[in-house]
Amino acid sequence: MPRYGTKQREDYKTFKNVFDLFTEKNLDRLMSQGYIEGLESPLSIGKEANVFTARAGDETRVVKIYRLQTCDFNKMFDYIRADPRYVGLKPIQREIIFAWAHREFRNLLKAREAGVRVPTPYAMLKNILVIEFIGDDMAAQKAKNDPPKEPKKFIDEVIRQMKLLYKAGMVHGDLSGFNILNHNDMPVFIDMSQSTTLDNPNAKGYLERDVRNVCKLAEKWGVRYTEKQVLKKVTASRRS
Ligand SMILES: Nc1ncnc2c1ncn2[C@@H]1O[C@H](COP(=O)(O)OP(=O)(O)O)[C@@H](O)[C@H]1O
Ligand SMILES: [Mg+2]
Repeated sequence: MPRYGTKQREDYKTFKNVFDLFTEKNLDRLMSQGYIEGLESPLSIGKEANVFTARAGDETRVVKIYRLQTCDFNKMFDYIRADPRYVGLKPIQREIIFAWAHREFRNLLKAREAGVRVPTPYAMLKNILVIEFIGDDMAAQKAKNDPPKEPKKFIDEVIRQMKLLYKAGMVHGDLSGFNILNHNDMPVFIDMSQSTTLDNPNAKGYLERDVRNVCKLAEKWGVRYTEKQVLKKVTASRRS
């Protein structure tokens, strides 16, 4: 069981400028529950979230913190309200962000259950997710910045993963070379906050966009698939 000590507390205080008191309190709680010992180093500052590595015993983990202040709530609300799992969500800033984090956690769980290569989700508390670190000594890089040695094999695996998701009744919704990591030449899907169920009226559009982005990535690496071919492969055994 990881210790909750002053040293670890000091560590993440160095990132304090990015956290409000509420987030700090929840990080404290995740530490006292043993999910993390402290934040280690920043991996990314995105549009909505800050991503850090964290220690937990011998393990490195990833902590994704949705910022409470600087999110685009209206856009988030528009996206999530179409998800049948979140009907009735009120347009209250905090509620939207918590639902957003909740949805990502739930999507990762569901994807993992379906056998899709995604980071294992460990914990979620309000606007914070603790998930598996993808990488070895270094974090795995985004596929767009780290072309695989065997691009055709990699793309075929991406398509196979999309199909597994689809069979489980889901679509990633923000799939591209930005949200596919290259881990030892195998794809890992990340960033599933936009992923939704196939009964979402926008699901078909998301799937088509995901397919388009994957075809673009493939083409960049000299692998030629038409969007029609990929869509057919992904949806082969289940028609929506
Ligand atoms: N589980 C992980 N393991 C390693 N790196 C990760 C992991 N999750 C996120 N990252 C890194 O952090 C970046 C941002 O994470 P992401 O979930 O895509 O958030 P955003 O919504 O800001 O795009 C990723 O592009 C990747 O470089
Ligand atoms: Mg991303």
